[in-house]
Amino acid sequence: MASSPDLLVVTGLGKTFGPGTHQKEVLRDVHFHVGYNDSLAIVGPSGCGKTTLLLMAAGLLPPTTGEIHLEGESIQGPSRKMAVVFQAYGLFPWKRVAENILLGAQFQKLHVSQEALTAIKRELDIENLDHLYPHQLSGGQRQRVALARAMLLRPSLLLLDEPFAALDLITREHLQDHLLILFKKRKFSFVIVTHNIEEAVFLGRRIVIMDPETHGIGEIIDNPNAGTTGFRTAPDYFSKNMTLRHLIEHPHEKQPLA
Ligand SMILES: Nc1ncnc2c1ncn2[C@@H]1O[C@H](COP(=O)(O)OP(=O)(O)OP(=O)(O)O)[C@@H](O)[C@H]1O
Ligand SMILES: [Mg+2]
Repeated sequence: MASSPDLLVVTGLGKTFGPGTHQKEVLRDVHFHVGYNDSLAIVGPSGCGKTTLLLMAAGLLPPTTGEIHLEGESIQGPSRKMAVVFQAYGLFPWKRVAENILLGAQFQKLHVSQEALTAIKRELDIENLDHLYPHQLSGGQRQRVALARAMLLRPSLLLLDEPFAALDLITREHLQDHLLILFKKRKFSFVIVTHNIEEAVFLGRRIVIMDPETHGIGEIIDNPNAGTTGFRTAPDYFSKNMTLRHLIEHPHEKQPLA
């Protein structure tokens, strides 16, 4: 495994919750990988185990079976090489933006230079929010602060769990654009869980469709044009949307109509 060319390798991953007869199998035998400077989108119906999968990949929840390797090292707990952004922002309501942005780095005892701080605030267009509390921000601003905080950890892998789900369409698309600008500039990889077909196609160079019947992966679509300039209006974007929609609506037909 140490010689793997992949950043993240997930093998035979399974999760069963609950004791004794109340056991509930949520995930079974899940395999996938994420390369360097790569992106993966994960879609699937509510309750199929997407958050569970992300938490295990982040080292925040122990798997029942299987293994996770990041840069060849077995993940047994939270890793400095990964940062997580959740839908619920994860900002501390009693701290101002300036403090919230630095919390992750402080927790990991990482030095953040003034230049690095100014640069990420500029990239995410949150330069003038330092003195505000989270409740004084819009949803989009809060999520940009959460992204800035994650980026200051300089992660090799960013894990995002429905990060833009609470936002209106235009704000959501702006945030997707922000994420891609960061991705191109800062050379990390990301895994994004989303319910949104367009978002998965726009952001994921591969798209994993979870299958709740088997508790595993139903399909993986290659989507190499994700993230390229002008993709949102490209014919391939529309055809990939149709393919993904078809596979989600007809999970056991292998040949999509689109
Ligand atoms: N700590 C836990 N203890 C017991 N069951 C759990 C626990 N966490 C999750 N589950 C169960 O595992 C299943 C998958 O939950 P999970 O949150 O991973 O789904 P999801 O795909 O992220 O759903 P959604 O799209 O609604 O966010 C659910 O049935 C949930 O009730
Ligand atoms: Mg979830």
